[in-house]
Amino acid sequence: MRLENLRGEIKDHLLDLQDKGIEELVIRRAPRLSPEVKLQKIREEIGDCTRCKLCQGRTHIVFGVGDPHARLMFVGEGPGRDEDLQGEPFVGRAGQLLTKMIEAMGFKRAEVYIGNVVKCRPPENRLPEPDEVATCSPFLLKQIAAIRPKVIVVLGNLAAQTLLQTKKGITQLRGNFQELRGIQVMPTFHPAYLLRNPDAKRPCWEDLKKVVAWMASCPYNPV
Ligand code: URA
Repeated sequence: MRLENLRGEIKDHLLDLQDKGIEELVIRRAPRLSPEVKLQKIREEIGDCTRCKLCQGRTHIVFGVGDPHARLMFVGEGPGRDEDLQGEPFVGRAGQLLTKMIEAMGFKRAEVYIGNVVKCRPPENRLPEPDEVATCSPFLLKQIAAIRPKVIVVLGNLAAQTLLQTKKGITQLRGNFQELRGIQVMPTFHPAYLLRNPDAKRPCWEDLKKVVAWMASCPYNPV
């Protein structure tokens, strides 16, 4: 229904109530939850998850880490061995490179939020399978809705394809902002790919510079 029609319906309803002698309405807003509380509720909803087969081999559920009020978020694929053992995303070699990338952009790791498409380690670091992505990614979307960052940097094919609902590859997608529910999304190469292909570091840095420039131009709205 269009907003104008909805407004008309609400007005008619209020006039109806007035005709019935109701002169006053008390409107109570649902209490606004902080991003911290929203994230905590999402974590509780996940619980000791057995919704997909990835639960069988995991040590820890890797929920996500960082500032619940972050203006910048990074999304990877899924935990690897180090992340599974420590329960934190991007702490292995690729994670160390990601931390350097974040710092080169002028942020501290603790100032941003880092998550993954799936929260449990796929065996032998294989790609998460479509049923696993379908089961787990709604929780990532809830985390994004709770944090409402200004920009999300999606790292690699799987994260880009999942969040942007496309089959296009990262080489085609990278470097161009897209929008997800009013949030700017920048696809770029995954740090693990950069470790294997150092020549891709320069184009990746160009993508990250676009993010820095966009964030500098974007007003800071404290909540
Ligand atoms: N690769 C990812 O995509 N995520 C991690 O958390 C670690 C490595």
